[in-house]
Amino acid sequence: MIRLVEWTQSFVAPEEIELQQPFVETAHRLLEQRSGAGHEFLGWMDLPSSFDPIELQRIKEAGQNIAKQANLLVVIGIGGSYLGARAALHMLQHSFHDLLPREQRPLQVVFAGHQMSATYLAELLELLDHYEVAVNVISKSGTTTEPALAFRTLKQYMEQRYGIQGAAQRIYATTDAKRGALRKLANEAGYETFVIPDDVGGRFSVLTPVGLLPLAAAGIDVDALLQGAKRAQSELRESDVRKNPAYTYAALRQILRAKGKAIELFVTYEPALHYVGEWWKQLFGESEGKDGKGLYPASADFSTDLHSLGQFVQDGARTLFETVIKVKNPRRSLQIEEVADDLDGLNYLAGRPLQQVNDTALEATMLAHQTGGVPTILLELDDMSAASLGYLFYFFEKAVAVSAYLQGVNPFDQPGVEMYKSNMFALLGKPGYENQRERLATMAKV
Ligand code: PA5
Repeated sequence: MIRLVEWTQSFVAPEEIELQQPFVETAHRLLEQRSGAGHEFLGWMDLPSSFDPIELQRIKEAGQNIAKQANLLVVIGIGGSYLGARAALHMLQHSFHDLLPREQRPLQVVFAGHQMSATYLAELLELLDHYEVAVNVISKSGTTTEPALAFRTLKQYMEQRYGIQGAAQRIYATTDAKRGALRKLANEAGYETFVIPDDVGGRFSVLTPVGLLPLAAAGIDVDALLQGAKRAQSELRESDVRKNPAYTYAALRQILRAKGKAIELFVTYEPALHYVGEWWKQLFGESEGKDGKGLYPASADFSTDLHSLGQFVQDGARTLFETVIKVKNPRRSLQIEEVADDLDGLNYLAGRPLQQVNDTALEATMLAHQTGGVPTILLELDDMSAASLGYLFYFFEKAVAVSAYLQGVNPFDQPGVEMYKSNMFALLGKPGYENQRERLATMAKV
């Protein structure tokens, strides 16, 4: 479902990968024996094979229920509590899903609570009256400010429009089993709730109700998604760095980092994979970027960004390498037609599939960038199906866990995210943050 096709061997020789074997073996053992840093968050490893069928059925039924009640689902969440669903919808739905005739898109999904823009939320509220609305509020901690603020506003809207009871039937909460303000609120209001397992961290939670409920509501085949992930779970068990592509990828990243590369550019040639890039950035950025270590994860959509970032990639500071995702069998095909006058001079391409041109752009760009001193890793995804995406999710989750262990960091915490939050609370005057507020007052205008 995902294959590591090649990498630039003039930058990393196969023997260098083999030299990583003892380190990869150790990282593999830390994962398998559940003895590494953050081992209490390894629930994602077995999720695809051990998903409770009764819970999965309940998710699917709630999804069907949402689709009956509403034609607009607002998914409230941030970071790991929204990026997986967004990536999946963007990849699996029609490229112009939002513009299709209503009967071809019975349920539309929009996101909120992933920033605090007043303009965004106010304009979303304006939109809601034109739709029948349901809300899925997602927060593992149940206390994150961005989704909590958005939910406060949307809850009020829903209660005013549908009444307290009516709103409660249209609001679905995905959160911790016991802890957090959202759990308390959901229990009191009588919302249908879904649990994010204790041992699955936010950015590893796409295959829990966090991702599955909005996807089921949108009519995505969640069984196929889980099946693909299950296949990855069984195929990516091998500890041999040469035989396990997730580990080869992890080792390559580690070697390139040791050789001075600081930025990994995740490149796709399918716009539908744009949010897979966003999901990937969060997964790698939050899992690895700590203790002064990690590769800065960036993403680009080619060939679009070849006309913006391309100059830098080809010719700028030599600090990056590329991980390119090629889709082997994209969803659609289109032939380039011959035209009589050939005024645009493109008849030399007539009769060829447009995809061939896209693939040639990929090949040509990789060669150009390699010549310019940018190593590339080429991964090939079979197609744009739910099963392949499930496989991809699991592949990168496994790869990042091993990558982080190879660098000696805990893949499953995110201490660096806290500082902006406590500064913001102090500056906003949240009780308990008075001392910090005083300290910050000397640095910022409050
Ligand atoms: O990966 C993570 O843990 C984070 O990105 C969280 O998903 C994000 O901060 C949202 O947290 P929560 O679901 O608790 O609101």
